[in-house]
Amino acid sequence: MAAGRREGRAARSERRPRAAARTARPRRAAARRYLIGMTGASGSAYAVDFIRRCPGEKFLVLSDWARQVLHAETALKPSDLERHVRRLFADSDLAAPFSSGSNRYDAFVVIPCSVSTLAKIAVGIADTLITRAAQVALKERMRMVLCVRETPLSSIALENCLKLSREGVVIMPISPPWYAAPKSLEDLVAGFSHKVLALLGERSGKGWREDELA
Ligand SMILES: Cc1cc2nc3c(=O)[nH]c(=O)nc-3n(C[C@H](O)[C@H](O)[C@H](O)COP(=O)(O)O)c2cc1C
Repeated sequence: MAAGRREGRAARSERRPRAAARTARPRRAAARRYLIGMTGASGSAYAVDFIRRCPGEKFLVLSDWARQVLHAETALKPSDLERHVRRLFADSDLAAPFSSGSNRYDAFVVIPCSVSTLAKIAVGIADTLITRAAQVALKERMRMVLCVRETPLSSIALENCLKLSREGVVIMPISPPWYAAPKSLEDLVAGFSHKVLALLGERSGKGWREDELA
């Protein structure tokens, strides 16, 4: 009986390597997780295009003014964007998971980013989910990309950009590239999304004279 149990254990331990081999098979890499914030700067179309193109698990927050500008510029409602993301949060929801550094993500992208939100982030104000998540990104050293949209830029806005850039934040003014010879407004807008996606390490669009590198 005891020998039988030993044999049983031996048989089980022989089976173990096969089970290990099964689990050792290469698995698909987990989808990246992105937090996306939209603020009330002009250029909602850039956010809409980025949200549609960005792969992975996406969580979206719109400020009150982002909702107004989205409607004024595209006639879309936040609910129209909901199907592209895992979850939509209210900017007033300071108890949302991303108010805490215990919930990690690969990058926080604010697109478009108003100079008001830029200023709040630069001085440490955290009175909305977007600004609180930004403070969390700063303290936890998580990646943050601010797609600032304003022109011209005041010295205050420029100083805020510099201050945050020195903290490791990527300041990415909305400035779409022309080298891909866009044939439509949609192409032009997509060109900027590709730049942001490339920055995040997502394969997207073609680089300048990229064919020569093949
Ligand atoms: C139609 C419209 C366009 C705007 N465009 C800009 C802009 O390009 N850049 C900017 O910084 N603010 C812009 N604003 C002003 C912001 O919406 C305003 O400063 C607001 O307080 C920003 O708040 P938020 O950053 O919480 O969204 C615009 C407002 C409206 C109504």
